[in-house]
Amino acid sequence: MSDHLFSPLSIRGTTVRNRVMVSPMCQYSCDRDGFATDWHEVHLGSRATGGAGIVMTEATAVEPRGRISPHDLGIWSDDHADALAPVAAFVSERGATPAIQLAHAGRKASKTRPWDGSEPLQPDEGGWETLAPSAVPYPFEEGEPPRTARMDLDDIEGLRDDFVAAAERALDAGSEIAEVHAAHGYLLHEFLSPVTNRRDDEYGGDFEGRTRLVREIVEEVREVWPDDKPVFVRVSATDWLPDRESWTVEDTARLAPLLAEAGADLVDVSAGGLHPDQQIPQMGPNYQVRYAERVGESTDALVGAVGGISEAEQADALIRNDRADLAIVGREHLRDPYFALHAAEKLGVEDEVEWPIQYRRAVQ
Ligand code: FNR
Repeated sequence: MSDHLFSPLSIRGTTVRNRVMVSPMCQYSCDRDGFATDWHEVHLGSRATGGAGIVMTEATAVEPRGRISPHDLGIWSDDHADALAPVAAFVSERGATPAIQLAHAGRKASKTRPWDGSEPLQPDEGGWETLAPSAVPYPFEEGEPPRTARMDLDDIEGLRDDFVAAAERALDAGSEIAEVHAAHGYLLHEFLSPVTNRRDDEYGGDFEGRTRLVREIVEEVREVWPDDKPVFVRVSATDWLPDRESWTVEDTARLAPLLAEAGADLVDVSAGGLHPDQQIPQMGPNYQVRYAERVGESTDALVGAVGGISEAEQADALIRNDRADLAIVGREHLRDPYFALHAAEKLGVEDEVEWPIQYRRAVQ
């Protein structure tokens, strides 16, 4: 029988109870300096209670300048890991697999929260100079974003060390899956795309140069991440900038096997986010699934699909029809923390899941 949404997924020595993952989603809810709060524990804990197989944290910054806003989660000290440990422990206790997205926001950093307008924050307003492969500010090259510094080779080495140290701390904090965030126009995606990477050293230029940093980071994270635990990488399959030289689906199909060689077990396939001129060809249900399918053809690594997945039958069909190995659900999990439990009911496989005993009288 083919796999379905509630088939367990075994990756290395880790078994995830089903194929539903809570997509990483920034909560902009840290009160100070990147420390997890009760919000993170309740928010992620609720989705674990709601039956998801993998519960992933929001983008968690590997260094302070890697936050989008001053309210983002971070893991640049052992104290940060201590604050995250109870969150992962509760997620595990609820039967889900705790995962962490390790991130650096690059030139898209230093902004106010979305509900404060996502306005650029200058250094004298609590913001900071942002980092990027080339000194190309976001969103436009003119205008008044915070100054964007081109990373030199020492900065690049420092960044690799930051990712490795963050992974080691995440492991101490109880995470079982580490995801390297290389999507949505943040720092590692900025290295991949010729739109933002205008370097002519070994970290720029051709495909090999532009992909070097992400391959190195995945390899180094893999070295410190235990052999029995999975490493994921989130990519933007395309910049959605067909009118100029940019990162394309075929580039991603070429990169995916190299990521697998570097130690990635699953490629989480998203798209866009690099430039405001992006042209999204189609929104709505499954709007990025065809990119996941293309990546799946190019590599033996597992593939996760994300974007516009909100219905039980739809998510189940992705797995049954072998279009993806994991159904990654974002906004629907904000609407319904119990998405996975409700999906099992709709699909008639409620025996495969368990409502918390505390709630059972209400659902029987
Ligand atoms: C996101 N997204 C996102 N992606 C990511 O890789 N790291 C992140 O921290 C965030 N943060 C975030 C916050 C919020 C509030 C939303 C709505 C989205 C993108 C998200 O993970 C997902 O890829 C998209 O939302 C598309 O999936 P859905 O929402 O259509 O299921």
